[in-house]
Amino acid sequence: MDAIVVKGGNVLRGSITIAGAKNSCLALMPAALLSDQPLTLSNAPRLSDIRTMARLLQTIGVEVQEMDDGRVLSMSAHQLTQVRADYEIVRKMRASILVLGPLLAREGNAVVSLPGGCAIGARPVDLHLHALEKLGAKIELSDGYVHATVNSSSLRGTTVSFPSRSVGATENIMLAAVLAKGGTKIENAACEPEITDLADCLRKMGARIAGDGTPTIEIEGTDSLNGATHITIPDRIETGTYMLAAAITGGELTLRNARVDLLPAFCEKLDAAGVQIDSGDGTINVRNRRERLKAVDVATQPYPGFPTDLQAQFMAAMSLAEGTSRLDERIFENRFMHAPELARMGADIQISGGSARVHGVKSLRGAPVMATDIRASVSLILAGLAAHGETTVSRVYHLDRGYERIEDKLAACGGDIRRIN
Ligand code: UD1
Repeated sequence: MDAIVVKGGNVLRGSITIAGAKNSCLALMPAALLSDQPLTLSNAPRLSDIRTMARLLQTIGVEVQEMDDGRVLSMSAHQLTQVRADYEIVRKMRASILVLGPLLAREGNAVVSLPGGCAIGARPVDLHLHALEKLGAKIELSDGYVHATVNSSSLRGTTVSFPSRSVGATENIMLAAVLAKGGTKIENAACEPEITDLADCLRKMGARIAGDGTPTIEIEGTDSLNGATHITIPDRIETGTYMLAAAITGGELTLRNARVDLLPAFCEKLDAAGVQIDSGDGTINVRNRRERLKAVDVATQPYPGFPTDLQAQFMAAMSLAEGTSRLDERIFENRFMHAPELARMGADIQISGGSARVHGVKSLRGAPVMATDIRASVSLILAGLAAHGETTVSRVYHLDRGYERIEDKLAACGGDIRRIN
């Protein structure tokens, strides 16, 4: 199995091009199921999660064509061959559940494996299922699968009021409601930029959607949707990760194809920690104003709050900051698995429930480490870039799910980082 070896101490300088947003693309791709005409997505990231979604769509009968070395995906759901998403694929990636809404809307039935637990908490899909039931689906769970059918001729628009915000559940309902009869109002909808990106794409396909980016989304169902071409937004989590790579090494990076407006709370915290952020014309320039970062407190929140997907990377930076910071994880339980690994590198972190107290230390030492999810893995790479000595991060398949050629991007900016087999 591959591992990444990082020798710390090099200051990163240079520019990095940010890929398209993985989480956007994973919601945009199932939109292809809604039309018999092709959906073409450009600025797709070349990641194993995207290949997994492509494979899943292919098993359902979607023709997937890759162009420009995988950066452009053309998907044609002219004729579906089955309405089933098998456990073998769904277990690899929870976002597979996003085929449920569009399959139900187009075909009137779907059989999708339950994703099961995952490394960052129980992560149920109850919100997805209850909302689809409100749209008129009959849902049964058996043998680890969701069996969903529509009794009448099609799903029926209604008001769906989520008890708590969920990005995936909001996307699934949008993907179903666009082909439902009548209007659907989604209350307490997620406001993440990936939701707006999905709404933009669906509008190009002929859907009638308003209010995306706010907690109330209104959708007027249509009988059919057409094909479209759409450019995926830049990945805000990859952007934030490389901003922290510049900050933790005391270097200077220019990020291209990046949007600072997608990271409001994160940029505020980074600024408070002493990082200078300048942006314009699709680029972001990052460098430190201080010799050593300053400790700042962070609580993860739904958008526009501080993203949970940047909490681990921020913790790596705070482990070397001056002072003590408190990091509260409010989206997922059990999302501090990186803390004991950072501690093995010399970080001083105390965890109590959903809170971490990070007492900044002057230096970290390289160590063999491993992590159990994408963001935890990358936080260890960031720590390794700043540590004395060598860090080996194993279980690299997590990184490959969410970061395109991370070792090449960092090495091109002076990082001593390589992949070994
Ligand atoms: C998406 C992102 C993920 C990010 C997360 C939160 C994708 C592919 N993944 O995940 O990177 O960390 O948003 O920003 O876009 N919940 C329930 N029941 C449900 C659904 C969710 O209880 O039916 C809970 C979850 O366990 C979690 C919270 O709601 O505690 C938010 O999860 P959600 O927004 O749904 O995350 P995902 O869409 O899975």
